[in-house]
Amino acid sequence: MKFRRLNNYFEIGVHNGHVLFKIRSNFKIAVDPDFVFDFFRKAGKILMNPYNLFNRYFEKTSDDFFRQDAERVFANKNVQIALIDGLHQYDYALRDIENTLKYLSDDGVILVHDCNPLSHSASGTWQEWQASGEKGFWNGDVWKAIVHLRSTRKDINIFVLDCDHGLGVVTKGLTEKPLSYQREQIEKLTFAELEANREQLLNLKPVNYFYTYFLGK
Ligand SMILES: C[S@@+](CC[C@H](N)C(=O)[O-])C[C@H]1O[C@@H](n2cnc3c(N)ncnc32)[C@H](O)[C@@H]1O
Repeated sequence: MKFRRLNNYFEIGVHNGHVLFKIRSNFKIAVDPDFVFDFFRKAGKILMNPYNLFNRYFEKTSDDFFRQDAERVFANKNVQIALIDGLHQYDYALRDIENTLKYLSDDGVILVHDCNPLSHSASGTWQEWQASGEKGFWNGDVWKAIVHLRSTRKDINIFVLDCDHGLGVVTKGLTEKPLSYQREQIEKLTFAELEANREQLLNLKPVNYFYTYFLGK
């Protein structure tokens, strides 16, 4: 089994660096307005994985990063693999994916977390989730960004792996089974409609489809 080596890593929404610090690459760009680690955690992570010495941290929103820094940061190196896990709202996730696509290499991959919410309250806005008083994980309506892109972008392909809380996979190339929703329709889509049409709306795939898609097996 042979994987392509995708080196240049970009993460939006890093939190405590749970994913970032494990990655072995000397080009890692981290964006979060509120990193949950200090100098000592960073130093410890450099000892555990020396690649972390080269990490570049941008403590700001992804919108500010794209407005102020992205052009310079990605001038000589494009993004080969990105994890989008910032603000879990339709418009934010959509902008994060579209902005990242501008800097993505032709064989690059964007992963998007929380695309397949399992409960009604986890799938709404942050305000709704807080008002629900439920415990657990808030996924937000990132799923609507997936429906939006599958309806509007014919130059990219998207599927969502049915694992964790739904891992979106975005690559360049022709769209499989495009959708034709307008923005106003997407805004009105309900969790009940998602429940009834997950496969169709998200292009939901079993986890091992990852190998079929990238390795042809
Ligand atoms: C679910 S956590 C990320 C978890 C992390 N990717 C991991 O795997 O451990 C979401 C993060 O998004 C950050 N965030 C919130 N709004 C953001 C924005 N506008 N731009 C970038 N990051 C944002 C939060 O500060 C938080 O740390």
